[in-house]
Amino acid sequence: MEKFFINGGKKLFGKIKVDGAKNSLLPVLAATIMVDGEVRLKNVPKYTDVMNMCVILEYLGVLVRWQQDDLILDASKIEEHTIPTALAGALRSSIFALGPLLCRHKIAKVAYPGGCEIGLRPIDLHLSGLRTLGTRIVEKNGYIYANGESMEGCDIILDFSSVGATENLMMAGVLTKGITRIFNPAKEPEIVDLADFLNACGAKVEGAGTSMIYIEGVEKLHGCEFEVIPDRIAAGTYLLMCAMCGGEVEIEGFLPYHNQVLLAKLCQTACQIDIKDDKIKVKSEGTLDAFGEVETAVYPGLPTDLQPQIMALQAVSHGFCLIVENLFEARFKHVPELIKMGADIRFRSNVCVIKGKDKLYGAEVNSPDLRGGVALVMAGMKAEGYTTISGIELIDRGYYKLEEKLSALGVDIKRIDD
Ligand code: EPZ
Repeated sequence: MEKFFINGGKKLFGKIKVDGAKNSLLPVLAATIMVDGEVRLKNVPKYTDVMNMCVILEYLGVLVRWQQDDLILDASKIEEHTIPTALAGALRSSIFALGPLLCRHKIAKVAYPGGCEIGLRPIDLHLSGLRTLGTRIVEKNGYIYANGESMEGCDIILDFSSVGATENLMMAGVLTKGITRIFNPAKEPEIVDLADFLNACGAKVEGAGTSMIYIEGVEKLHGCEFEVIPDRIAAGTYLLMCAMCGGEVEIEGFLPYHNQVLLAKLCQTACQIDIKDDKIKVKSEGTLDAFGEVETAVYPGLPTDLQPQIMALQAVSHGFCLIVENLFEARFKHVPELIKMGADIRFRSNVCVIKGKDKLYGAEVNSPDLRGGVALVMAGMKAEGYTTISGIELIDRGYYKLEEKLSALGVDIKRIDD
């Protein structure tokens, strides 16, 4: 089993380039199911979630091939409309294929999705939105049986601005005749990125990123060439790593408006930050004041996907920090692992109080999920002594060659086979 082995206490110096956004690539890959032609996605990092999504697409009959870092897909001749449990259960974004399969085949049989264990992660908003569009859905034996023969464009009002439900319904609308309007949609940059991809394939989607998405159904989608936006969560992670460990790092592919709240918090707590175009230079002594109070929220609020990494930083900041996790009901599984390293953290329900300590100490810890795992990498980078992190296959879901990137900045980290 692979593990990370880290000798902590090193400051970070150098440059790091942010890879393409995992949470853009996954819905875009699902959308290729609807495209009658060749799609070339440029500079695609081999996240394991991307690789698992490609396995699903190949099972459906999509031709998938790599050309260096470009991923080329052709769904012109797909016939399969089923996604079995073994494939669907590997990741959350398998559910994103439901809307596209209904558009393509008017019928779909998809097993329930998997994904990081950060809560129940229901799909009721996906299914209720599809039913509003006229899809007949039966849930039985762990599968979703859907029939989209009578789908018609209409208004859909989301109870909650779910990212995945917005993406699924946007995709379902692009090949459904008539006008589909989605009210109270998610506004994350990845939603806008998906709309840009769909429009590059000939769809008619307007208003992505606003409070109403307007879709005019078209007959078919044609191939295109596309590159997703940089991964704002990875960018925020690298920013927090430098703030925590100290040093001076230039992050390329950092779009400031993607991480406004985090930037504001870091500027208030003794980080020097210079932003020029899509590059950010961050300088830190590695000793910061605590953030005080932090609440995760839908975009443009503080992303839940940065909550574990912020907690790692707060564990060694001066003062107290209160973290409220508003998106997922079980996203504190990294807390016991940080406590093993000397952090002073207590939580009840979705509220956590962290008392900053001067030091953390190396330990043997386990990644509970993708972002919790990278928070443990951060703690190991800062800690005195050696840290061994198991379960790093969960980190590989959303960070590509992380140990190589961090080694280039001066971190003493190795991937070992134990
Ligand atoms: C996407 O998950 C991301 N994953 C998550 O990133 C991210 O944390 C999340 O959006 C929020 O930003 C991908 O894009 C692949 P949601 P998703 O639907 O779509 C509830 C990472 O680390 N909900 O916005 O599953 C749900 O339980 C991952 O990269 C329903 O109740 O998120 C949660 O409490 C982790 N019913 C809240 O909404 C539904 O039908 C947010 O979920 C759907 C969601």
